[in-house]
Formats: sequence, C-alpha cells, structure tokens
Amino acid sequence: MKKIFILATALVVAGGWSPAKAGNVDKGKALFESPTLGGGTTGKSCQSCHAGGENLGADLFNRKKLHIMGMTKTNVADIVNVCIEKPLGGTAIDPKGEEMQDLLAYMETLTAKPAK
Ligand code: HEC
Repeated sequence: MKKIFILATALVVAGGWSPAKAGNVDKGKALFESPTLGGGTTGKSCQSCHAGGENLGADLFNRKKLHIMGMTKTNVADIVNVCIEKPLGGTAIDPKGEEMQDLLAYMETLTAKPAK
C-alpha cells in the first residue's frame, strides 16, 4: 500500500503536475504526439514538425499578434487550430476545450526551454 502511494506521488512529480495550471501537461504531450488529434488525416502530428519546441518561438505565449501562413491571429489556440487543419488535415478543436488547455500546457513547457 505504501509503495503504491510513493509511486503515485512520483508520477505526479515527474509529470510536472502543477495545481496553478488549467491544462494537463501529460495529456497535452500525448495529444501533441497524436496523428489523430482533431481527426487528423495526414499521419502527421505536432511532434513531426515541432519536436522539442522546434519552430515554436520562445516568446510564443507573450506575443500580442501571431502570424502563420500569411494569417494574423491574436491567440495561440487559433494558431494551433491552423496547424490542426492544414498540416494534420483535421478539424479545428474547441479553442476553450480541455484538449486545447492540455495541449497549450504542454507547449508552454516546450517554449520555456532556452532557444538552441
Ligand atoms: C508539417 C509540419 C507541421 C505540423 C505537422 C505542425 N506544424 Fe505548427 N507550424 C509549422 C510551420 C512551418 C510553422 C511556421 C509557419 C509560418 O511561419 O507561417 C508552424 C507554426 C506553428 C505555431 C506558431 C509558432 C510561432 O512561434 O509563431 C504554432 C503555435 C504551431 N505551429 C503549433 C502546432 C501544433 C499544436 C501542431 C499540431 C496540431 C502543429 N503545429 C503541427 C509546421 C507544422
């Protein structure tokens, strides 16, 4: 019994679980690596092009305006949906939904790393 408790605690710590954040980093990581996010049809996942935060600006979450593929957006969720619709060939997900919160939480851990 004690072992199980220790294991659970270790998982929480290893997963970077933080009560201050709305999204779940572990779930977000799984979504980021899933080619079926948003019903994706191209076999690509976010990970295919953004492994370890590649092509994600370090200041991503601090910009007021974001530009992607000739479009201007004001929040990261809308950019994520562009990447779900174009490279993944899927359908945009709810920008305020749980999946998006989880994805953004994971992406924040990627952009928080110092640029290469
Ligand atoms: C086929 C490659 C590819 C895939 C797959 C892909 N992206 Fe992108 N993504 C790009 C490219 C290329 C850009 C830069 C586009 C530009 O500058 O116009 C980009 C830009 C972005 C940006 C803006 C980065 C910045 O700093 O402005 C975000 C956020 C992003 N992608 C998230 C995602 C997410 C989340 C997924 C998975 C749903 C995903 N991308 C899947 C190629 C991809």
